[in-house]
Amino acid sequence: MQQTYFMIKPEIVAAGEQKIGDILAIVNRAGFRITGLAMRTLPRELVEDFYGEHRGKPFYGELVEYIAGGPVVTVRLERENAVAALRELIGATNPAEAAIGTIRNLYGASLQNNAVHASANPADAERELGLIFG
Ligand code: CMP
Repeated sequence: MQQTYFMIKPEIVAAGEQKIGDILAIVNRAGFRITGLAMRTLPRELVEDFYGEHRGKPFYGELVEYIAGGPVVTVRLERENAVAALRELIGATNPAEAAIGTIRNLYGASLQNNAVHASANPADAERELGLIFG
């Protein structure tokens, strides 16, 4: 069994519980078990570390402001082949390019406001779960 990190981003949380529930239902129907779940506002320094690989990129400052700017839903998921399966379920980073029916296709608004995050690879999953769930 593999674990991965999933996060519902602030603009979706701000839109209300229905979207949170709908997105968690999609994930659950795809065979993932939810083994950790919280709604919290992440400290800025934690978000800076979390997105450390993007430090120096033009969108980094805005990204940190946005993710630290309001509550997110943090989720630890477990499934066979969880990392790759979740990436496929959420779709491409840019919602305009995300395959029909993926979470970002259904709920993403823009490249920045792309609804959800999922760990890119197993090493990132371990690092991100450590940062968020300890
Ligand atoms: P995420 O998968 O959480 O990883 C980095 C985030 O940065 C990405 O989703 C987007 O929300 C945001 N972002 C903003 N601009 C860009 C960009 N040009 N390329 C990649 N990610 C971007």
